[in-house]
Amino acid sequence: MFESDPTLTIAVVSKVYPMRSHTVSAEGGAAAVIKPNDSLEDHIYDTISGADWMCDQDAVEAFVNEAPKEMLQLEHWGCPWNREEDGTVAVRPFGGMKIQRTWYAADKTGFHMLHTLFQTSLKYDPIERFDEWFVTRLLVEDGRCQGVVAVELATGRIQPILGRSVILSTGGCGKIFPFTTNANIKNGDGMALAYRAGVPLKDMEFIQYHPTGLPFTGILITEASRAEGGILVNKDGYRYLQDYDLGTPHPKPVLRSMELGPRDRLSQAFVKEQEKGRTLEGEYGHYVHLDVRHLGEKIIDSRIPFVRELCLKYENIDPVKEMIPVRPVIHYVMGGVHTDIDSATPLGGLFAAGEVACVSINGANRLGSNSLTELLVFGARAGRSAAEFAKAHQGFTNGIESQVLDEENRLNTLLNSDGTEKVADIRSEMHETMESGAGIYRSRDTLEQSSQKIRELQERYSRVKVEDRSMTFNTELTSILELGYMLDVAETIIQSALQREESRGSHQRTDFPERDDDQFLSHSLAYREDDGSSRVDYLPVKITKWPPGERVYGEKK
Ligand code: FUM
Repeated sequence: MFESDPTLTIAVVSKVYPMRSHTVSAEGGAAAVIKPNDSLEDHIYDTISGADWMCDQDAVEAFVNEAPKEMLQLEHWGCPWNREEDGTVAVRPFGGMKIQRTWYAADKTGFHMLHTLFQTSLKYDPIERFDEWFVTRLLVEDGRCQGVVAVELATGRIQPILGRSVILSTGGCGKIFPFTTNANIKNGDGMALAYRAGVPLKDMEFIQYHPTGLPFTGILITEASRAEGGILVNKDGYRYLQDYDLGTPHPKPVLRSMELGPRDRLSQAFVKEQEKGRTLEGEYGHYVHLDVRHLGEKIIDSRIPFVRELCLKYENIDPVKEMIPVRPVIHYVMGGVHTDIDSATPLGGLFAAGEVACVSINGANRLGSNSLTELLVFGARAGRSAAEFAKAHQGFTNGIESQVLDEENRLNTLLNSDGTEKVADIRSEMHETMESGAGIYRSRDTLEQSSQKIRELQERYSRVKVEDRSMTFNTELTSILELGYMLDVAETIIQSALQREESRGSHQRTDFPERDDDQFLSHSLAYREDDGSSRVDYLPVKITKWPPGERVYGEKK
């Protein structure tokens, strides 16, 4: 943004210190065409078919075409990509990609990307940081977004931060579910802020389970461990994926690649395996084993050292010698704030990029390693668009002050309220109903039950108890605000899933098991009604060159 126009001043508002943003824990890699045996056309096609044709093809084309340039830019800023012997950028295979195109930095790719971006931002003086400020409201006047209201967590001070354009890059909402790879900070904040300001949330029914999370903590065991050759086995030590259709035209997938099938299909296979009584059962539910022992200590330590570290620290097992217990856990939401290809939302001055946004390139199922690259491509686009908008809109309108006052009153009333409902109770009941009603498989019955439950929880939320009235790092208050965001976003997930009467990608309806292109080759758009409920409309998917077809998976010959 700054490079688009050096006269701009920019504020970065973050509820955590920026290096603690969740991208830091991304592991496996970022996809972009770099090798001579690969092609832009192949990356586009893999992304579209992986998405089960629910993505906008013009957005996918822009994404794939701009990806190599953005990845090289990051390299020039210092990102330490792994190298081949000859010094060129190394790539590894990743799920649903028919060719190796995932750049990586061991299995700490997000950590290195975030460091690179953050350290680069430090050289620009006009960037002012608001670290540990919690945004509670978007300021919308005169039909455009003109800033935010935020609480400084260290002091409790409530303050407007004005901006002629605002970019949301707050990530996803995995914490709506009980088992997730997502950090505690991922509560759908940006999604709820936009939704409350009248911007629709798109394709919220498409929620991705990652097939290999640790059973209790949900911590990610990267797909890279399967890319390096790890295999999934059931309680009998049997490599069960060979029994399932992972989307390949072959009756059975080739053995070398079946663990790298698309994530939705692998997670669905786990449920089927559980139904057959072939999973193991532990304190935190059912699980299977990921076996990487045959890779040997040298490969494990050089290619997936973080996997070993996580297993030792959180499960007290050494994957060099023991199998890793894993289960599907919520990892990513394909839906998000409705944006166009330039990262603009329908609300003037409001832009969004990354997991918070739905452009859309991920459709009904995101391919692993596309999202880190998406941050770069659409983050850059958002920056350019926001700079243009800011230049074209000088000054702020008057009504903003009264909005800031309203927000101060709302927060102070909440802080001094005398409710009876415990935040932890509402949160765990939300977790339970989202997993049972809107999990890997859903039906009208389960979704309707969850819908009723979420409405009940929203009503109880209005009577939530606040015991900590202090102004200094009041984590109870922030948990309550985050819970409010999550309940709003949960409502959009349930309503969008209820209305999509078909099965596609990660959205599997047991009562509508087929994909239905005639009726549902459209994005859902969930709008917030005054009573807090969601109204769902539809917008046709953009097809440019690739008409809907069968999902094809298997290694390129
Ligand atoms: O398994 C992983 O490393 C996840 C990567 C991704 O979601 O892109």
